[in-house]
Amino acid sequence: MAETQVWRVDPNAPDLEHTPQIQAAAEKLAQGEIVAFPTETVYGLGGNAKVQDSVRKIYEAKGRPSDNPLIVHVANLEQVREICTEIHPVAQKLIHAFWPGPLTLVLPSRGTVSNAVTAGLSTVAVRMPSHPVARALISASNLPIAAPSANRSGRPSPTRAEHVFNDLDGRIAGILDGGETGVGVESTVVDCTTTPITILRPGGITKEQLIEVVGLVSDDPGLVRSDQAPKAPGMKYKHYAPSATMYLVPAGESRIRELISSERAKGRRVGVLTTEEKQDSYPGVDVLLVCGRRSEPATVAHHLFDVLRHFDQKEVDVIFSETFDQKGIGKAVMNRLSKAAGGRILD
Ligand code: TXA
Ligand code: MG
Repeated sequence: MAETQVWRVDPNAPDLEHTPQIQAAAEKLAQGEIVAFPTETVYGLGGNAKVQDSVRKIYEAKGRPSDNPLIVHVANLEQVREICTEIHPVAQKLIHAFWPGPLTLVLPSRGTVSNAVTAGLSTVAVRMPSHPVARALISASNLPIAAPSANRSGRPSPTRAEHVFNDLDGRIAGILDGGETGVGVESTVVDCTTTPITILRPGGITKEQLIEVVGLVSDDPGLVRSDQAPKAPGMKYKHYAPSATMYLVPAGESRIRELISSERAKGRRVGVLTTEEKQDSYPGVDVLLVCGRRSEPATVAHHLFDVLRHFDQKEVDVIFSETFDQKGIGKAVMNRLSKAAGGRILD
């Protein structure tokens, strides 16, 4: 693979679709190459969803298991109708309420995208992103774009172009650098083929928001039970983990302080994931990274993946993390944190 190009682009530029950067990236997509681009959640790694070869390149660049299907990104409803056999009334309500935005709908597939996108399933995941750069790229290429998060498989999702560059330099044709993403955790994935609809992955749109629009909403039992496979194949994989062993500590600061002393007594370098409100609670810790304000959980989501990546540069041996209420976006934050910790929770 040739060098990875980086196109800096201002998300607020007028007529974004016709800027040289977007045109260059769209041209690569038309040639069957793959490029990374910002969305309002995290950076995605996009390729033409209709062409098997392009989709294969995505799996290869990420090192992604082939049984883990991709989300197709669209810019209008006509593209959804080309991809799905039906958009029933509940799905229509969700589209009306939350698109464009951080919500992915699993719908019956028409079979018009590559088999590699759906990993052979009869359903397809579709999302209309709201980020201006993502929208401009989809419109300029005039293609449905298959795009998982633009990280190497198993790493935290990228919220900055540098994260993508660190993971995928030399493995992809280019990166549209539109600055930091907003939400910071991925979209909520909702299965619309069940009654009621089922949350397969908590994310940018909260369960509370979904309930307000459609009433009943269930959670995939596979998300919380270890004896049942999650229905979104991607949720069964280890993910987001920093190289140091991480533990979640629901008991809070005083317990974390005890843990810091006992680990340091063993000669280990200790990291703590904290928040603005509690950052002064850990004197003597080796590495303290602040992940937003707990009074505003959206700020925690926004910083989470960047902070997880930072721990790797700080060469700690063990990380203790504060935990968060499972309300609103806190549910997605705790889902990603427990994956990063490999399910390790200390009383
Ligand atoms: O915010 C996001 O959703 C980002 C941006 C780039 O759009 N994308 C993203 O994609 O997070 P990815 O590939 O990292 O996660 C997609 C998730 C995986 O857990 C996958 O298994 C699930 O969606 N998925 C995709 N198609 C599915 C289907 N037909 N049925 C069930 N789950 C599906
Ligand atoms: Mg991902």
